[in-house]
Amino acid sequence: MKFIQALNALLVGLTNAKAASHSSNSLVSAAGDIAIIPGWNLQSSLYVSTSSSHLSQPGVGVTDWHRVGPRGTVLAGLIESGVYSDEQLFFADNLNSLATNLSFRSPWIYREEFAMTPDQDQYFTLHTHGITSKADVYLNGAMIVGSDEQQGSYGGRQYNVTGNIRHGTNGLLIKAYQTDYLRDFSMGFVDWNPYPPDNGTGVWRNVEIKQSGPVSMSPFRVVIVLKSLTETKKVHLTLFTDLVNQSQRKIQVTVKGTIISPLGSTASPVARSIHLGPEERKTISIPATIENAAIWWPARWGDQRLYTVQGEVKIEDSRKTVSDKSRPQQFGIRKVFSRVNEHNDTAFFVNDRPFQVMGGGYGPDIFLRFEKTRVAKIFEYMLDMGLNTLRLEGKQEHPELYELADQMGIMILAGWECCDKWEGWEYNDDANGVKWVKSDYPIAQAAMLHEAEMMQTHPSMLGLLVGSDYWPNAQATQIYLEALRQMNWDNPVIASASQRGYPEALGPSGMKMDGPYDWVPPNYWYGDREGAAFGFGSELGAGVGTPELSSLKRFLSDEELEILWRQPNATQFHMSRYDSQFYDRSIYNSALFARYGEPVDLEDYILKCQMADYEATRAQFEAYSAKQNASRPATGSIYWMLNSAWPNLHWQLFDYYLSPMGAYFGAKVGNRMEHVAYDHKKETVWLINHSLESKGERQLMIDLIDINGTEISSIVVKTETSPSSSKEVGRPGGIDHIQDLAFLRLTLRDTNTNQDLSRNVYWLAPQNDVLDWDNSTWYTTPVTKFANFQQLQSVPNAIVKATAHKAKVKGPHGHANVDIQLENVSDHPAVFLRLTVINSSDQTVIAPVFWSDNYVTLWPKESVRVSVLFEGDLDGAVFELSGRNVQKAQFTCLGASN
Ligand SMILES: *[C@@H]1O[C@H](CO)[C@@H](O)[C@H](O)[C@H]1NC(C)=O
Ligand SMILES: *[C@@H]1O[C@H](CO)[C@@H](O)[C@H](O)[C@H]1NC(C)=O
Ligand SMILES: *[C@@H]1O[C@H](CO)[C@@H](O)[C@H](O)[C@H]1NC(C)=O
Ligand SMILES: *[C@@H]1O[C@H](CO)[C@@H](O)[C@H](O)[C@H]1NC(C)=O
Ligand SMILES: *[C@@H]1O[C@H](CO)[C@@H](O)[C@H](O)[C@H]1NC(C)=O
Ligand SMILES: *[C@@H]1O[C@H](CO)[C@@H](O)[C@H](O)[C@H]1NC(C)=O
Ligand SMILES: *[C@@H]1O[C@H](CO)[C@@H](O)[C@H](O)[C@H]1NC(C)=O
Ligand SMILES: *[C@@H]1O[C@H](CO)[C@@H](O)[C@H](O)[C@H]1NC(C)=O
Ligand SMILES: *[C@@H]1O[C@H](CO)[C@@H](O)[C@H](O)[C@H]1NC(C)=O
Repeated sequence: MKFIQALNALLVGLTNAKAASHSSNSLVSAAGDIAIIPGWNLQSSLYVSTSSSHLSQPGVGVTDWHRVGPRGTVLAGLIESGVYSDEQLFFADNLNSLATNLSFRSPWIYREEFAMTPDQDQYFTLHTHGITSKADVYLNGAMIVGSDEQQGSYGGRQYNVTGNIRHGTNGLLIKAYQTDYLRDFSMGFVDWNPYPPDNGTGVWRNVEIKQSGPVSMSPFRVVIVLKSLTETKKVHLTLFTDLVNQSQRKIQVTVKGTIISPLGSTASPVARSIHLGPEERKTISIPATIENAAIWWPARWGDQRLYTVQGEVKIEDSRKTVSDKSRPQQFGIRKVFSRVNEHNDTAFFVNDRPFQVMGGGYGPDIFLRFEKTRVAKIFEYMLDMGLNTLRLEGKQEHPELYELADQMGIMILAGWECCDKWEGWEYNDDANGVKWVKSDYPIAQAAMLHEAEMMQTHPSMLGLLVGSDYWPNAQATQIYLEALRQMNWDNPVIASASQRGYPEALGPSGMKMDGPYDWVPPNYWYGDREGAAFGFGSELGAGVGTPELSSLKRFLSDEELEILWRQPNATQFHMSRYDSQFYDRSIYNSALFARYGEPVDLEDYILKCQMADYEATRAQFEAYSAKQNASRPATGSIYWMLNSAWPNLHWQLFDYYLSPMGAYFGAKVGNRMEHVAYDHKKETVWLINHSLESKGERQLMIDLIDINGTEISSIVVKTETSPSSSKEVGRPGGIDHIQDLAFLRLTLRDTNTNQDLSRNVYWLAPQNDVLDWDNSTWYTTPVTKFANFQQLQSVPNAIVKATAHKAKVKGPHGHANVDIQLENVSDHPAVFLRLTVINSSDQTVIAPVFWSDNYVTLWPKESVRVSVLFEGDLDGAVFELSGRNVQKAQFTCLGASN
């Protein structure tokens, strides 16, 4: 785990525009001030009869409107102001109750008053960063812009409001029009989940007012020339900013950029004497040099050294008045590129090393609420699971997300969303997005310019996908590329996340989108077709991610819980949308019932799900890891998906309440830095090394026991490991003679330090699952014969002794840190031991929680030690242990006072 508090403290307020402190209540009052409109009064246009122009005048009474914060969709605002409760909306099918409410089919009004003290030679701009789906903007009775121009969730624009700002109270009004995902450039959920009743309509990003003098400047963009990772004594870079001249009188200006190094030293390159025509916009560049540059690395490879650049433009007169300032931008010195290799697969490189993408698809909140602290927890989970990349499919969120990714060393693959309006191409017959017409291109252009500016400096950017399932047409591609060029974009640009076609200007994407999205068995991943581990899989997974019962009870009614295990083919509101392939668990459940046996009750069903989910994610990540340097390398994969937009039954590695589960720990095992993995197809064992440096002698122990714990074989292999590579190193003995069921334990030891690097147990059936590859669909590959694990029922009950000790050191952030010793005192295996931390006062499960390992299987008489970190008070925590053949029991920590 990596904690980032120190850095956070250092960078606090980086993206937070500062409310000016110069004048007591003026929103802004000095050149360079930029302030977020601090909140809004929100109301449906159905309940407002006055004209927008009149309503935007100061002094209009809106006391009965809903009071909300600076950014939020309509639904987010209604929850924030207490009209609805999300816990309630998420329960059962309550969300449906809003589907017929007409207010969500009409515009909504956001209105705010704020004080200003404008003076001579002061200029003001209003900055939008995207309003869904489109908006009319009024200030003090005047229309600033209409919805013909202010369009799209990413349509961030700047308007000159110098002539509209008044001394004293000002009134700002935004009328946000309702959203249709097929018609508007918005943020849809396609088949991920039911749609929010408002389709995400509203002022979902901040709106700002900026003050400048006669010449204003944009935030810096940074272009770094890093020839080689070894030539860091002097790194050359160029700062770019756009200046706009608002004045009619003759002036000269100087632009200064200030670069603050990770250690706090500063360098201040300067450009002088700029000449601009009236109202002219000009991009200027300032060369700069960084001595002894500190390199930025992705989390697993090194530190995240970050520089900050900010600047100002000054008038060249005797008083050297500041005319504008640019907000601080975080940047890092690193090198990223991609190429399509000889197999036509995209391969990424970071700092000249092949960077195997082990990623996940990001789910924003269903109501697009954004809390930086929640995203930080999600990122902690990613790092804990060994994931290195987040894919944003048309969900670019806010600047804070990129700052966090920079600080935590997570790479970002951003890009536009599939289907919907974004992919309304004449050659796209798979989706219903309204086809693009002439007036759509400027909206797409504004979106690309704005998002590129937001992302440009961030070292976490791995690339941008300008299409997902489909590629943009030639005209859109040209517009995107021109916008990116204008924003000095120097990261990879990829046509789409699939191989259906491509625009000439970009060439093939080198990414496959061949499924699966629904259940496939573990040996699938070792195949040589579809989504199996070769090339780059842009979105794929076995459709698993069942939450544990404690979470399920929060969003499913008793009746729904009964249906969950009793009616395996029933439709599920808490899955994909009703018109989707993934609206039920039938494929998943038919495999589960056949392989693990029909569930006897709800708890039994959930435990079987956890085992199936663990197997599924482990095999997927292991196979991609095993094939990292295969003859056709697995260059990367994006697990579909990392997390969900709301409490959900599938497509996630942890649940909406941030509780981990079987899928989480399967992924965590499968992504271990150094690991030994079982190849479910060839029945061999792979040695995996994801590190950049670790090498040398390793010892592998390959142990197979039968269902009763009797040894079938025990093999020790001595070998060598080398960085960023995997190889086959052996085969368990007796694997062809399994009766009923066997357990395979793989242990990896560093013989120099005598440390165990990885320990991991598989349950194996006498016969593997048999795949029917030729009958594959876009979402799954059918299985004609299932592996049979039903003999798990015959494993005798085991007794496990659990002892918890407070760890010697406290966890980061003052987190509780506990070591737990698990000892199987029985003569037979203790299968799939599940540990949970519970808050003893209200019996709720504590989350997030960071287990070094969980859902472990122990050999007869074996002991293992796991550790756990969690927020909160150790004295109020109880641990719960249960397992496939272990009675549920609670225990507390020795040394804690309860
Ligand atoms: C429709 O939604 C509005 C705003 O959320 C709410 O005030 C109103 O009561 C709802 N109407 C019905 C009939 O539920
Ligand atoms: C949301 O968008 C969908 C199209 O994807 C549309 O059918 C639906 O009517 C929209 N809902 C609202 C409330 O406008
Ligand atoms: C902004 O508006 C002011 C006042 O109307 C005007 O003086 C100025 O030139 C405008 N700036 C630009 C860049 O158009
Ligand atoms: C801005 O334009 C005016 C009018 O042409 C000109 O006099 C002035 O020098 C320009 N300012 C800069 C910084 O170029
Ligand atoms: C890669 O793609 C090119 C162009 O589509 C094709 O000619 C070539 O055969 C492909 N190579 C492989 C290894 O599939
Ligand atoms: C349930 O779904 C599975 C998989 O789609 C199918 O094979 C089976 O026939 C279905 N059962 C019923 C009763 O519909
Ligand atoms: C991958 O790397 C390992 C270790 O260097 C090597 O033994 C193996 O042959 C490589 N695999 C391929 C297919 O080149
Ligand atoms: C496991 O033990 C049971 C009870 O002693 C026995 O019936 C069974 O055959 C054993 N299984 C194996 C695979 O040895
Ligand atoms: C596909 O499945 C059907 C039965 O569902 C079977 O008859 C057919 O042989 C399968 N096709 C292939 C190519 O295996």
